[in-house]
Amino acid sequence: MFPMNALHTAATLLALSPTVRAAFFYPTVQASLLEHILVDTHGAHASGFADAITPCTNYVSGSQNFGRETAAQWLRVAFHDFVTAHVAEGTGGIDASIGFETLREEDSGSAFNDSFSFFRPYVSSKVSMADIVAISVSISVGNCGGPQIPVRGGRIDATEGGPFGVPAPETDLPTTLQFFANSGFNQADSIALTACGHTMGSVHHGGFPTVVGPEAVSANNTAGGIHFDSTVAVFDPLVVTEYLNGTGQQGGPLVTSFNESSRSDLRLYESDGNATMIKLAQQGEGFLGTCSTLFQRMVETVPSNVVLSDIVSPMNIKPINATLDFDSSGKLIFTGYIRVLSSSAATAPTSLSLSTSQSKPVSLTPETALGTNSFGVASFFPFSIGITDPNDFHSFAVQGYGPAKTFAIQASAFVVPSLTFSASDATTAVNFTVAASSPSYAKRLFSRGSVPTVNVQAPVGQTGTLGPAITTFSNVAVSKVGSKAGYTLWSGLVDIDTTATGPASVAVLDSKGKEIDILFV
Ligand code: HEM
Ligand SMILES: *[C@@H]1O[C@H](CO)[C@@H](O)[C@H](O)[C@H]1NC(C)=O
Ligand SMILES: *[C@@H]1O[C@H](CO)[C@@H](O)[C@H](O)[C@H]1NC(C)=O
Ligand SMILES: *[C@@H]1O[C@H](CO)[C@@H](O)[C@H](O)[C@H]1NC(C)=O
Ligand SMILES: *[C@@H]1O[C@H](CO)[C@@H](O)[C@H](O)[C@H]1NC(C)=O
Ligand SMILES: *[C@@H]1O[C@H](CO)[C@@H](O)[C@H](O)[C@H]1NC(C)=O
Ligand SMILES: *[C@@H]1O[C@H](CO)[C@@H](O)[C@H](O)[C@H]1NC(C)=O
Ligand SMILES: *[C@@H]1O[C@H](CO)[C@@H](O)[C@H](O)[C@H]1NC(C)=O
Repeated sequence: MFPMNALHTAATLLALSPTVRAAFFYPTVQASLLEHILVDTHGAHASGFADAITPCTNYVSGSQNFGRETAAQWLRVAFHDFVTAHVAEGTGGIDASIGFETLREEDSGSAFNDSFSFFRPYVSSKVSMADIVAISVSISVGNCGGPQIPVRGGRIDATEGGPFGVPAPETDLPTTLQFFANSGFNQADSIALTACGHTMGSVHHGGFPTVVGPEAVSANNTAGGIHFDSTVAVFDPLVVTEYLNGTGQQGGPLVTSFNESSRSDLRLYESDGNATMIKLAQQGEGFLGTCSTLFQRMVETVPSNVVLSDIVSPMNIKPINATLDFDSSGKLIFTGYIRVLSSSAATAPTSLSLSTSQSKPVSLTPETALGTNSFGVASFFPFSIGITDPNDFHSFAVQGYGPAKTFAIQASAFVVPSLTFSASDATTAVNFTVAASSPSYAKRLFSRGSVPTVNVQAPVGQTGTLGPAITTFSNVAVSKVGSKAGYTLWSGLVDIDTTATGPASVAVLDSKGKEIDILFV
């Protein structure tokens, strides 16, 4: 047992507890996970998310000969989720309700389930499917020639389908404009948003035979896709200029369809005498900025009960998987990685210094493998530092690349990574161990005497959508299984009762229900 430090009076502890938070994710658990998807796109320690759209012509859900394109599908999924919003009533918008709506005629095509089955493993207690739908727009546009669209988290997944109201190729103009108006977009913005959406991808005979005829089908284009513009996988202004000039794809099948009633883009684009399209063309590359603003508005259209987070910004210096653990001899260690973002491999640092509030600086060297992304390159500095006095472990600092960065930490209780497992045979079970510091401290931290409060949450399949539901096991029974390095160890087992679709989380809560630490397994 480590002695209670004299400074740890009841007053200090009470003052400390309101700021107690998940110690090991920065700036928040959710922002850290979303930032990982946004930034770690290629190379070392990539999240795998951007693989689906690398190269941007890729189709992740089937043969490359289908003529389908994942990067374009993601934009269409977000549009269909968004456009049934009723902003005046504060309902709908980006809430992943589209997952329940895939059998509707207005949601024809394979894009929705293709996308949701790829998104599914990324959903967890901290990242909703709706947030993934939103971030997929940023990833698609930002990695296929377009700008970085700012992204926020915090969306809440719908538990059922929402109202109808997606414009289809045969929908008349007033109805189409009404659908857009319901979701907060006026005529000019609807025209621009549609042009922004229709700069990537195709209309397919498979799904839309009344727009594209069977002649589009060929051996390497079996779904019969006809491109909207001459650069099907590049986010650029070409759809606008080709429409106005009558060159290339001339605006695409929804302008040129053999079937006049299917020319919805033509009806929309010329509904103001082409004024908006001409304005967009005059913007040149400025079109990209216009699209960024409109796409951000689209993905930030959410039900009125949702509070969106701050913008998830790439972190120049980011602790990754920073955690307390016990080493094989039972000593307390602080381990993880520091990720550094720099503009190029040439400017990436070759060493860093890491110090904690209770230890001298140690020098870190990077792994040789780099990550690459739209923001530059990422280098990864692994660390493992012995912690002799957890009472004095409140922060750590990273020096050696720009101004020193300090990160708060708490060592009062943590989920022990090396003693926590998730196993799936018929169903998923999570066997966890939590370490709680000395009983007198723990008594103040936890509601049930000195017994830690543990919640386990897991994403699981549900009927009617490929979007998972989150199942929660609160106040899981724990039993004392020993002690290590001054901590009491508590273990528990949760049978999820089905197979988890993504990472389960184990969280230790303080007496106010706030998360002190969380581990994903
Ligand atoms: C009047 C409004 C709109 C109508 C009627 C419409 C209709 C369509 C149709 C019929 C397709 C073909 C889908 C397929 O064959 O798989 C399509 C594709 C697409 N739409 Fe729209 N759309 C509209 C507005 C938008 C907007 C506002 C966006 C984005 C913000 C968007 C994004 C896309 C994308 C990216 C594709 C290509 C999908 C792929 O290649 O798989 N659309 N649209
Ligand atoms: C043209 O589109 C309309 C509306 O979708 C449809 O009813 C009609 O059958 C289509 N005509 C042809 C020749 O595909
Ligand atoms: C299919 O093959 C033709 C002829 O080789 C080529 O022009 C076309 O670009 C290919 N289409 C796709 C979708 O790969
Ligand atoms: C709008 O532009 C298109 C493409 O140039 C053209 O075909 C159409 O006639 C124009 N419509 C109006 C109302 O000017
Ligand atoms: C289309 O016309 C504009 C002028 O209206 C011209 O600047 C542009 O280069 C043309 N683009 C294409 C693709 O023909
Ligand atoms: C961080 O931990 C997760 C599991 O929670 C793992 O998938 C990932 O590879 C780890 N990242 C690094 C950089 O070690
Ligand atoms: C949980 O894992 C530990 C190993 O850390 C093992 O000793 C224990 O039996 C497991 N508990 C259950 C209930 O399976
Ligand atoms: C999409 O997946 C859901 C959930 O599995 C299923 O209920 C629905 O029928 C699928 N939709 C399509 C168009 O296949």
